[in-house]
Amino acid sequence: MTTTTPGPPALRTTVGTARTRVEGREKVTGTARYAGEIPFDDLAHGWLVLSPIARGRIRDIDTAPVLAMPGVLTVLHHGNAPRLYTDYVGMLGTPPDPAAVVFQHDRVPFAGWPVALVVAETPEEAREAAETLAVTYDREPHTTVLAADDPDAYPATGHMPAETEKGDLQGRLAASAVVLDEEYTTPEEQHSMMEPHAATALWEGGRLEVVDSNQGAGWVQSELATLFSLDASSVRVRSEHIGGGFGSKGLRAHQVSAVMAATALRRPVRVVLTRRQTFSLAGYRSPTAQRVRLGADPDGRLRALDHRSLNQTSTVYEFVEPSAGVARILYDADAHRTANHVVRLDVPSPTWMRAPGEAPGSFAIESALDELAERTGIDPVELRLRNEPETGPVSGLPFSSNNLAVCLREGARRFGWADRDPRPGIRSDGRWLLGTGMAAASFGAEAMPSTALVTAEASGSYTVRIAAADIGTGARTALTLIAADALATTPERVHVRIGDSDFGPAMIAGGSMGTRSWAWAVTAAAAELRDRLAATRDIPPEGITVRSDTTEALGALAQKERHSFGAQFAEVAVDTASGEVRVRRMLGIFAAGRIVNPLTARNQLVGGMTWGISMALHEEAVRDRNTGRHYSPDLAGYHVATHADVPDIEADWVDDHDPDDPIGIKGVGEVGIVGAAAAVANAVWHATGVRHRNLPIRPDRVLAAPALPPSDSGAADA
Ligand code: MOS
Repeated sequence: MTTTTPGPPALRTTVGTARTRVEGREKVTGTARYAGEIPFDDLAHGWLVLSPIARGRIRDIDTAPVLAMPGVLTVLHHGNAPRLYTDYVGMLGTPPDPAAVVFQHDRVPFAGWPVALVVAETPEEAREAAETLAVTYDREPHTTVLAADDPDAYPATGHMPAETEKGDLQGRLAASAVVLDEEYTTPEEQHSMMEPHAATALWEGGRLEVVDSNQGAGWVQSELATLFSLDASSVRVRSEHIGGGFGSKGLRAHQVSAVMAATALRRPVRVVLTRRQTFSLAGYRSPTAQRVRLGADPDGRLRALDHRSLNQTSTVYEFVEPSAGVARILYDADAHRTANHVVRLDVPSPTWMRAPGEAPGSFAIESALDELAERTGIDPVELRLRNEPETGPVSGLPFSSNNLAVCLREGARRFGWADRDPRPGIRSDGRWLLGTGMAAASFGAEAMPSTALVTAEASGSYTVRIAAADIGTGARTALTLIAADALATTPERVHVRIGDSDFGPAMIAGGSMGTRSWAWAVTAAAAELRDRLAATRDIPPEGITVRSDTTEALGALAQKERHSFGAQFAEVAVDTASGEVRVRRMLGIFAAGRIVNPLTARNQLVGGMTWGISMALHEEAVRDRNTGRHYSPDLAGYHVATHADVPDIEADWVDDHDPDDPIGIKGVGEVGIVGAAAAVANAVWHATGVRHRNLPIRPDRVLAAPALPPSDSGAADA
């Protein structure tokens, strides 16, 4: 069918009501099964062997002793693995990461590179053999440390242009009354999803089936079909439940190696990544080195803005963490320049991680705005209100809707910002110095083409089929509410099936675009189905099915700046004797389009804000420059915020909607983390008078920077 923007259905009462997850009972009772635990007859188990060296060549793999071990079935490596077709650009506009396309040559580009897969009857046998496998290497010198002034850095286009520039930057900086020039860094961060990657591959009835944990069954299906030169219709990928992804669950070594092994052995093979293996095989957020220069009038109006960011990528794959991109949306200036650069190091390939670009970029730009507020003596909320752009600062395009100012005002009101004394280091509670901080947030709100199938069953219920992914977001539930409204029925009569590439092409769970993209397709199919039903007397036993495709409708959308916005507020307590920072409360007010399910939307926003606390205070993957490997690549060494680190977090929203979306949806998946770390860091400054420009704000960093003594106690230990 040809899809146009569907008109509003007659009845629309379900979207916007709080609903618990439709699969919630299965999840809390343990009957929901994840990719690594679904049983198969005759299942064999693969265990990946990773390179301990950071750069060089595989000289030899001595498989004979391992093949003689109990239960071992085969060892796959570059000497015997099938050659794959890799010269393509996939559904998301990127070529496959060579780290996923395993065993194609003898080069080792980073520590943790997959060099072999040992397959055995049990996971224990496979692991034992994998740890025994003798691989010898020819080592070469490596470089794994990101340096802000690396001469080999170059501007790189990822999912946005590398550089933008307008106006006379030097001239405007020189003419500005207040000038700020600061550098900010963020560390390497890991996705740390609860469920590590897992896939089972098998051939059945001439088709390749892969049961996998991913963010898009159709995405992984199309990549596997291309890599293995298979007809797309002969590959099926299913992913029913997913325990988190955050950008890491695309095509990875586990699926590709499982398919190789299942093909070689003619039996089902499962490959599960360990937590430690995910540190090098599942992507990560690159560390960034950023420089922000601001020039402003005494009244805080920006005249010059320069935001440059550098991230690392591997020598085999270019990934851009476009941290300077957020300045292209949030702030305008007469002279405005942004640039994203990368440098190639002997490290694993980074990848998308929740708010790629915006998360680290907002730490820099929103810290810099806070510093500008400090120097101009203007309240940080007021400073942002004064610099609200009328149109896209770089594009000049109108905003679909921009309710950032509403978020700032509402957030300030609810947080109690008006009573804030701007002076730093003057509040205390016993040994704790207290402070508050805030930051603005924005994240893109686009949609991507999707197809959906909606069936009116003879029983009177409806079945929706779409290759959506519920990575923990509540997508299945959101689509149930969407479909109920679009079909003018109750959620109880709608059955939503997702996570199956056989349902046709659909957007992945990513870019905060899942719900909006899928909802559009479901709404379009439902609208046509209602028309068909109106002209039908009896529903045949097989039901009546309508298929939608939103490609054309999305292609016809007017060019606009489409974004969710938010205002983040945090209160912290800092113990200057121990260096400990505790977040005491946090409030985020968002303008994120029409909220489909308040329960799961709040869940997403609070999750993002929690991650902001974690980013500000805890997370840091540290690499040993001598070996090129991580220190302690696990959740003991890599600290994520736990319950004890997270106070009451409140997330709420203001009325907002995308006027061109049939339902008004924008997206809530990523905006919650944007600005959150800056709000915490700005609060630490307000508490202590010390500006932390390098994340995380560890106790040793707090101790190393002399804090102002609390004025009311007079005690100054520093
Ligand atoms: Mo997200 S980083 O788009 O999965």
